[in-house]
Amino acid sequence: MRIETIAVHAGMAGLAEAGSHVPPIDLSTTNPLRDVESGGDSYENLATGGDLGVGDSAVYRRLWQPGVARFEDALAALELADGAVAFASGMGALSACLIATVAAGKPHVVALRPIYGGTDHVLETGLLGTEITWCDEDTVAASLRPDTGMVILETPANPTLEMVDIRRIADQSGDVPVLVDNTFATPILQRPIEHGATLVLHSATKYIGGHGDAMGGVVATNREWMTRLRQVRALTGGLLGPFEAYLLHRGIRTLPVRVRAQQATATELAGRLLTHPLVARVHYPGLPGQDPRGLLGRQLDGAGSLITLDLVGGYDTAAAFIEGLQLVTHAVSLGGIDSLAQHPASLTHRPVVASARPGGGIVRLSIGLENVDDLTDDITNALDGATTGHTAVRAVPAPSLA
Ligand SMILES: Cc1ncc(COP(=O)(O)O)c(C=O)c1O
Repeated sequence: MRIETIAVHAGMAGLAEAGSHVPPIDLSTTNPLRDVESGGDSYENLATGGDLGVGDSAVYRRLWQPGVARFEDALAALELADGAVAFASGMGALSACLIATVAAGKPHVVALRPIYGGTDHVLETGLLGTEITWCDEDTVAASLRPDTGMVILETPANPTLEMVDIRRIADQSGDVPVLVDNTFATPILQRPIEHGATLVLHSATKYIGGHGDAMGGVVATNREWMTRLRQVRALTGGLLGPFEAYLLHRGIRTLPVRVRAQQATATELAGRLLTHPLVARVHYPGLPGQDPRGLLGRQLDGAGSLITLDLVGGYDTAAAFIEGLQLVTHAVSLGGIDSLAQHPASLTHRPVVASARPGGGIVRLSIGLENVDDLTDDITNALDGATTGHTAVRAVPAPSLA
């Protein structure tokens, strides 16, 4: 079946037989057990990362949850993965991957910048016991060590939408699993497993939910990693909640339509913004010259709906522009039906070391489902009104963990 059909129908197994049309939201936190022996066996299975077998009890809902399992099945079908493991947030999903790596005695992580600021922060601080080597596309192989447990990348990357050739990284990584953060592209535009990735991570809070009303994270992967991640999740308690699972699963059903409609608007808008005198550069993978290696079409099926502007005048112009927006909301997050603008150096990428942090003039726009002319009016009005008198790039302090 084609991806639109999978999006609508995946994760619905057995519903019709149970007399339902959509998944029920089951709020139970525990499950009555049949007898002591089978209860113990089910616990043993789930606490060690096993899947719920026929006749097993889910025992306790930190171990397994039916609506979460449906959402996982649907996401895995889109990502062409054996399965998926869902968490309460994208950072919860990343943390589980890192904990599993450390637990396997491979604490060294190789990662490519730029990457989401929260990911950068947790890797740079080594909070979860990992040790980081930052590298670029040419130096992955040279950065590997015997204790390297994972190579991490994001493409298109947050916030300047650079693209990374996943196959090239996977080839250099050999047996070391490659984790791709696919939040920006979604499985509608990019399926990293086809290009050699082992783990595909999403902040489901973004496009997958799509309406700004549910937080979640998910990792699509193979059976071995599913077991490891479920075990970490059972022990550390990061399971997605039942209501969020329902909303995220529902979001998947309209994901292809939303992604393509938002992308069409973003493509038009990116072209229109190119000529504004306050715009030094529009970062958008679909614009001429921004895909020198031809990854669009080969790895990424479309340019998506994030546009990043680099504004003349740095921090002050960016601040004035953002504060002048009326229709587009000044807020972090992305991928929803309404357009958002945010200043990465002050917000999402504030924890990143100054040398790798986006410049003060960078503003990230997440384009929603509004009319393209209304968005053009709002953005150009805000640009017209932004001050051009300042050239300072204000220093932004990084928050510490202490
Ligand atoms: C690309 C990317 N990955 C991961 C995350 C973290 O996800 P969450 O906020 O759901 O924890 C984000 C959040 O903004 C993100 O943009």
